Amino acid sequence: MSAPRHFIDLWRMQPATLRLILDDAHRRKAARKGWPKAKVDADAPGRDRTLAMVFEKNSTRTRFSFDAAIRQLGGAGVIATAADMQLGRGEPVEDTAKVLSRMVDAVMIRANRHDDVERFAAVSSVPVINGLTDASHPCQIMADLLTIEEHRGPVTGKTIAWVGDGNNVCASFLHAAALLGFKLAIACPDAYRPAKADLERAGASATISADPRGAVAGADVVVTDTWVSMGDKDKDARMAAFDAFQVDDALMNRAAQEAVFLHCLPAHRGEEVSEAVLDGPRSLIWDEAENRIHAQKSVLAWCFGAIG
Ligand code: CP
Ligand code: NVA
Repeated sequence: MSAPRHFIDLWRMQPATLRLILDDAHRRKAARKGWPKAKVDADAPGRDRTLAMVFEKNSTRTRFSFDAAIRQLGGAGVIATAADMQLGRGEPVEDTAKVLSRMVDAVMIRANRHDDVERFAAVSSVPVINGLTDASHPCQIMADLLTIEEHRGPVTGKTIAWVGDGNNVCASFLHAAALLGFKLAIACPDAYRPAKADLERAGASATISADPRGAVAGADVVVTDTWVSMGDKDKDARMAAFDAFQVDDALMNRAAQEAVFLHCLPAHRGEEVSEAVLDGPRSLIWDEAENRIHAQKSVLAWCFGAIG
């Protein structure tokens, strides 16, 4: 039996595979324009497949978008929180993976610890998809890249400015930068930089400073995220450290004239982003949220071996 196609971190993927997934997502989205949300795509690449969705942390977008995705592919979904599973009472990750492998065709996991997803995948005989960990959020970045391309054309050659926390979402942007040929200009406080290994994965595609004005200068896309991610314990220190990192109109005005704004959500108006930017004309946040469905459908289609 061939090894399952896991989707855990973008840096492990082939550039051609990421391109294929994005192209499939563009096509699939266009083909179902105006359709009811639960209507199955014509080729139904998820027919006869079941996706398990396991959540150790809260979620709105990831939960509903994966559920919509598997339905639109013609398959079925099962959602569970880890707390409701024996996993929440200490059953080993490996035992859970072996059991689910007998019952479903793919597993999406949102986990506190990245290592738990790696451990799950190491023994799973079905594809495992990372639905966010403390270390990365690859599905979010696939949706973000889809959104950028819809509005501004190919992401290759673009400059994306990341302003704020060097967190899990920032890490997945770093993982994609060199593979897809975009520049990532990061501005974050010194204490909240991304991991060295993630910066190294981006190589010359990334720059890093503590200067938001410099990072956004001429950028095609400006992105931020919450200053306090799920699991972060140092809220007060973070609020102080990020005080000068809010994306507001003055900052957006330093970006390219046609620059767009992205945020994975949930957002905190008046903290990492001003209300005027988040709800303003340069913001693509609602398309970005919807694109979680379209990007993940193509990730699933790849995991199932229906594309690529
Ligand atoms: N952006 C994102 O992953 O949202 P949820 O936490 O609501 O899934
Ligand atoms: N960085 C955020 C993303 C939420 C989708 C978190 O991990 O909480």
